Amino acid sequence: MMSQKHKKMAKVNLLLSHFLLNLLILSPNFAFSQTKNDVKIGSSLIAGDDKTSPWISPNEDFAFGFQQLGDENQFIVSIWYNKIPEKTIIWYANGDNPCPKGSRIELLADRGLVLTSPQQDEASISDPLIGIVAYGTMKDTGNFVLVNRHSDSLWQSFNQTKDTILPTQEFREGFKISSRRSETSFSKGRFLLRMFQNGNIGIASLNLPSEYINENFYLIRSIDQLNATNYVMKFNESGYILLLVNNSQEFVLSQGEIGSSARFYHRATLNYDGVFALYQRLKDSKNDVWSTVWSVPDNICYSFPSEKGSGVCGYNRICRLSIDKRPDCQCPRAFTLVDPEDDYRGCIPDYVQDCGNNQEDAGSQVEMETITNIDWPTSDYELLQPLDEEKCKNACLNDCMCAVSIIRENSCWKKKLPLSNGRVDNRVNSKAFIKRKKGTFRENTNSSKPKNKKQETIILIVSVFLGSSVFVNCLLLGVLSLGFLLVYRNKRLTFDRNGSSMDQTLRYFSYKDLSKATEGFKEERGRGAFGIVYKGVVDIGNPIAVAVKKLDRIVQDGDKEFKTEVNVIGQTHHKNLVRLIGFCDEGPHRLLVYEFLNNGSLASFLFGDLKLTWNQRTQVALGIARGLLYLHDECITQIIHCDIKPQNILLDDQYEPRISDFGLSKLLRMDQSETQTAIRGTKGYVAPEWFRNMPITLKVDVYSFGVLLLEIICCRRNVDYEVGEDKAILTYWAYDCYQQGTMYQLVQNDLDAMSDMKKLEKFLMVAIWCIQEDPSLRPTMKKVVLMLEEIVEVPSPPCPNPYRSEHSLVDAV
Ligand SMILES: *[C@@H]1O[C@H](CO)[C@@H](O)[C@H](O)[C@H]1NC(C)=O
Ligand SMILES: *[C@@H]1O[C@H](CO)[C@@H](O)[C@H](O)[C@H]1NC(C)=O
Ligand SMILES: *[C@@H]1O[C@H](CO)[C@@H](O)[C@H](O)[C@H]1NC(C)=O
Ligand SMILES: *[C@@H]1O[C@H](CO)[C@@H](O)[C@H](O)[C@H]1NC(C)=O
Ligand SMILES: *[C@@H]1O[C@H](CO)[C@@H](O)[C@H](O)[C@H]1NC(C)=O
Repeated sequence: MMSQKHKKMAKVNLLLSHFLLNLLILSPNFAFSQTKNDVKIGSSLIAGDDKTSPWISPNEDFAFGFQQLGDENQFIVSIWYNKIPEKTIIWYANGDNPCPKGSRIELLADRGLVLTSPQQDEASISDPLIGIVAYGTMKDTGNFVLVNRHSDSLWQSFNQTKDTILPTQEFREGFKISSRRSETSFSKGRFLLRMFQNGNIGIASLNLPSEYINENFYLIRSIDQLNATNYVMKFNESGYILLLVNNSQEFVLSQGEIGSSARFYHRATLNYDGVFALYQRLKDSKNDVWSTVWSVPDNICYSFPSEKGSGVCGYNRICRLSIDKRPDCQCPRAFTLVDPEDDYRGCIPDYVQDCGNNQEDAGSQVEMETITNIDWPTSDYELLQPLDEEKCKNACLNDCMCAVSIIRENSCWKKKLPLSNGRVDNRVNSKAFIKRKKGTFRENTNSSKPKNKKQETIILIVSVFLGSSVFVNCLLLGVLSLGFLLVYRNKRLTFDRNGSSMDQTLRYFSYKDLSKATEGFKEERGRGAFGIVYKGVVDIGNPIAVAVKKLDRIVQDGDKEFKTEVNVIGQTHHKNLVRLIGFCDEGPHRLLVYEFLNNGSLASFLFGDLKLTWNQRTQVALGIARGLLYLHDECITQIIHCDIKPQNILLDDQYEPRISDFGLSKLLRMDQSETQTAIRGTKGYVAPEWFRNMPITLKVDVYSFGVLLLEIICCRRNVDYEVGEDKAILTYWAYDCYQQGTMYQLVQNDLDAMSDMKKLEKFLMVAIWCIQEDPSLRPTMKKVVLMLEEIVEVPSPPCPNPYRSEHSLVDAV
């Protein structure tokens, strides 16, 4: 042991030599400037050796070196966040080939970074490299750079992005990032994010082990109407992801509130499950965790159904969206993981498929378990209808080929193994009957235990309530609400942490707040089915303009319902939907607070003096279709809009359409008995089934969209008697023009549209499909989007109203 004095002396010596070294470095003999953090030629690191410490950036945020994987003897050369406790690797070199303990990285002047295994196998990490390296630097931005003696950079880790991008990085056409295999495996994963020539950024899956790339299942932004030649995707210093067009126009791609880069780290990662997410985390906190600011797609369980392949979760699994919008994958009960180490290899059932000799006996070894609201949409092999539940269950039980049958509205689908694209389906009431080995139910009680326990607690609380005196109940209630208040307060606190919202929860406003925000409800901006809209300004960290909707026709006793519905609306996030910021629910006052959009409604740009160009209109149509698709298919709770019309489509500053008033139809629900007379929706846009006592489904929105699409194409109202009787009803006239091949009449004075006949015809055909009187003939919004995007062909549509008569004319008006 060294004495105290000796230690001190050693320290002084060290300081002195450091000082001298610095003097030397700063002296003018050196053509390049080097700082103490720079990595000199000949420096090396050894895997699993604590004596060599990683190369750190000057601000100490990032480190370069070896990271050990789960396995004792596996290391990867990587860059990670140096100051936070959870291991967050943002770059890695040898993900496919982790190296053993004792491996060594060395910086050589002529070859850059070289990795040598204990067996003396060598691999270069910094290819391609042209020139002689003078030193390396771990930059404050997270970029590791090798430079020559003129400080020109020869190689940088930023040019070999793996699954994560960082602020200050920029990307152009051809840029790709590839996900890793799993949380713990850094080999090449199944997903790819790419930027295309037209500025679109797509996420696609890869058919490993081949390099075949499937079609994009998600596009982040489509602005090809700009016809620009130069697109750059930028992750700017403040943590925003932007698209820079022609070096002049900027579009912010990321949504959500981004904390200041002085206090937060930001990164964006293509996760191994296909979700691309922008994260942030407080810099100087040991306790904070990475939180998602923005992520796409909104619902990976729905956005990634692949025609071929297993879907996100693997075969025979079920995808459920977790709170952070990542897929939570589970085996159905009585199924087990093929490989507990590899979550994505899928599950196998516990029974053995036996289509042997005694066919009649097929059902005797197995039984059916019932689960509600799950689906494997691409594994059907037979459809039986009409069929009731019991028959549907038995149809599968007695069919040795069948693994699962699913019943929905008297239609029974038989499905075969392996089951693919499994997901929770909250949209419809369906029941799945899943085959399992007979008598295995007991053995499985272990796995469902935690759930039972929860139920027991609830039952316990309820029984305490029911069983004890009023006084005890009051006391208990008091304690419970105090607890609730504390939790609520905590939530508010995290939310106010830096004056801007950290979580995506809705804000609550008091009536007084909103009265003040709108200066006593002074500036009226419109009236709708729900009540009056006022313009106002609220301060949520920074002042923003809002539209305050005062609901006056709310269901009487819908107190709980109001909160539920508002929450549903609040959970929707899509660039083609108007965002709900908060609400007020105070005595008789029910108000919704939305973001304010300056450009007003689409109606004024279709029927007013200021017209949108043909290109803008086609993009608006696409945007609306995407927004509707989201409401129907991709958000957590399915939403039928019921009142799609130009007045309910707002335009933002970039003329991007935003659907408003979605979710309100449920809030404004009338008495069941009233539905026949008081029809929701607006005349001219409502689907015929409203008048016919038929069930109201998603297809009512498709109908309204079809009418709207025609109006967008033709820039006129659906019903307009001033143009002559034969043209008065647009839905009829449009079909006539289509059939007679005189489509140009529809866009008479619009030269752009006339010179784009092909697209015009496509859009027109899609619109005619949407306005089919028979709801089952109308396409889904998914199909509509695919047709408008010209990804699938549009078949020629039949006459939308084969029984057109004077009567239906009245209907249409
Ligand atoms: C990184 O890539 C960009 C674009 O491909 C290129 O212009 C630049 O020279 C590269 N930098 C280094 C250090 O390789
Ligand atoms: C878009 O660009 C293509 C080729 O770059 C050109 O032929 C076409 O006329 C352009 N369209 C518009 C509307 O500017
Ligand atoms: C982008 O730049 C190209 C070439 O300079 C030009 O032809 C094009 O019109 C520009 N597009 C936009 C949308 O500014
Ligand atoms: C990054 O982009 C956002 C959004 O456009 C902008 O507000 C911010 O100022 C930008 N930051 C920098 C450093 O350019
Ligand atoms: C429940 O789990 C325990 C340990 O995990 C195991 O020993 C036991 O056999 C299981 N019981 C049943 C009924 O599967």
